[in-house]
Amino acid sequence: MRVFCSFVLVCVIGVQGKVAPDGFPACKRTDPQIEKCFLDGIENIRPQLQAGIPEVNIPSLEPFLVPTLKLDRTAPNLRLKAVLKNMVARGGGNFRIDRLKINLNNKYAAEVKLFIPRLAVTVDYDVKGSRLLVLDIDGKGQLRGNFTGIQVVAKGSAKVIEKDGESYLQADKIATRLKINHGQIDINDTERPYAANSAVAFFNSSPNVVLDILNPLIEDTGAAIMKAFLNKIFGSIPLKELILD
Ligand SMILES: *[C@@H]1O[C@H](CO)[C@@H](O)[C@H](O)[C@H]1NC(C)=O
Ligand SMILES: *[C@@H]1O[C@H](CO)[C@@H](O)[C@H](O)[C@H]1NC(C)=O
Repeated sequence: MRVFCSFVLVCVIGVQGKVAPDGFPACKRTDPQIEKCFLDGIENIRPQLQAGIPEVNIPSLEPFLVPTLKLDRTAPNLRLKAVLKNMVARGGGNFRIDRLKINLNNKYAAEVKLFIPRLAVTVDYDVKGSRLLVLDIDGKGQLRGNFTGIQVVAKGSAKVIEKDGESYLQADKIATRLKINHGQIDINDTERPYAANSAVAFFNSSPNVVLDILNPLIEDTGAAIMKAFLNKIFGSIPLKELILD
């Protein structure tokens, strides 16, 4: 909470909705160095982002949880129908922002280039009637994976929406390009452990082949997760507190 967010403001918050948490980047629309302002601000609140800020609905990055993901995709060398549950990812909080471009010229648009050195993921999966290259994939169990050197370029725009007489941003379109340098997985499959072992051996011997085939799916899923995450932040902090006039 802000410095002055003591008694009086808390009362006001109760009635009018939430305010940006203490230290949250507050950058001026007219700041010629608005990118630097946001980058410094994000650095300041990195610990809070890692832990999450429950008062304003910002979920934790460390760990980052995704309760359910449904995947259904046909692409070259790939047919995949899967339900992923209880995904836990650790390491995302160590993201580095390599580039940020913000355009507030009659719009709310941004492009960001991120680097995540290492992500350790645990997820329960249920895959049916799927195929990757010549490998049939069917099964249910838990997968653990370590992925390193993750580069993300995300481009997106947001629109202004009104809620209870207050303006908020809402992420509109987000597209990501994503590249994972290396991955290693391990699987405990309760239905077809032997088939799962050969899938694991195949993945671990040539992770880049599999990751390349899965890339369009990983990029779209990354964009959807990022959009949901941003909208939790945007939906909790009024526009006038996110970008100062
Ligand atoms: C992931 O990394 C951890 C810590 O280094 C290690 O214990 C684990 O075995 C690794 N998992 C896989 C699937 O390589
Ligand atoms: C698989 O089960 C073993 C033994 O219960 C456990 O040590 C290992 O961490 C599990 N691996 C995964 C990927 O869940």
